[in-house]
Amino acid sequence: MNATLTDKEFVQFQSLIYEQVGITLDTPKKSLLTSRLGKRLRELELPSYQAYFDRVSGKGGEDELVQLVDLVSTNKTDFFREPVHFDFLREQVLAEIASTRFLRIWSSASSSGEEPYTIAMTLHDAIPDCSQWDIKILASDISTRVLAKAASGIYDDERVTQLPQEVVRRHFLRGKGEQTGKLKVRKHLSEMIAFRRVNLMAPAFPIKTPLDIIFCRNVMIYFDRPTQASLVGKFYRYLRPGGFLFIGHSESLQWVEHQFDYIKPTIYQKPFE
Ligand SMILES: C[S@@+](CC[C@H](N)C(=O)[O-])C[C@H]1O[C@@H](n2cnc3c(N)ncnc32)[C@H](O)[C@@H]1O
Repeated sequence: MNATLTDKEFVQFQSLIYEQVGITLDTPKKSLLTSRLGKRLRELELPSYQAYFDRVSGKGGEDELVQLVDLVSTNKTDFFREPVHFDFLREQVLAEIASTRFLRIWSSASSSGEEPYTIAMTLHDAIPDCSQWDIKILASDISTRVLAKAASGIYDDERVTQLPQEVVRRHFLRGKGEQTGKLKVRKHLSEMIAFRRVNLMAPAFPIKTPLDIIFCRNVMIYFDRPTQASLVGKFYRYLRPGGFLFIGHSESLQWVEHQFDYIKPTIYQKPFE
């Protein structure tokens, strides 16, 4: 195979990715797409980028679309990434809702699971009678690959080197034998979380109970302003009055029309009625 990605094909991929996933691929990304897709073409033994486009955009192309998204987006994440949100959850939100013992949280671009497991660790460590509470964390992503990794709860032990040893002991099991060097999240955390594939571009989400908090961190940066505005409007509908939206540290709603109250950088609240 000696295919080149023509400008016309690049534009086709740009619109497909924008329409289906909301991600805006600008022109400098053409060479990145060429090299990443080239590898995928070889794996699938396809003769050209056009043949790949036809497959991914045609009937039954959904699964391949997930692969394509993995090629163009980053899944970078960490345990306790951007800790201000976990501090806010512990110090502000829990104090307010302690009498209800009821909590619904959505980690809406959860990647390989570090974010929802960090939420679960924070709750477990902050609430003495946590098992008596009605807590549900929905963790979702568009990528089935990262969701499978998240649901397995298995990580290389380098992933937790920055965490205090007692936190690691409390929340992870160390692998033995063939699993040496691996850690598995303990059951008290995984029981709190349901993993599901959700595309943030969908017109509606599979959520019935109004949410206390939505984490949408480090994904909106890939979306253009109209897409961000529409997503933030949907989040607003799924939160309870007084519920919070947490976004990533390089993101802002400053240029996006929305109805949230600004609390502090990256933290927004739906007003009480
Ligand atoms: C950089 S990771 C962010 C992970 C985590 N929220 C954090 O801040 O550490 C971005 C994730 O967004 C997901 N993503 C991209 N477009 C999406 C979409 N349209 N719907 C749902 N998830 C999407 C990607 O698959 C990726 O796992």
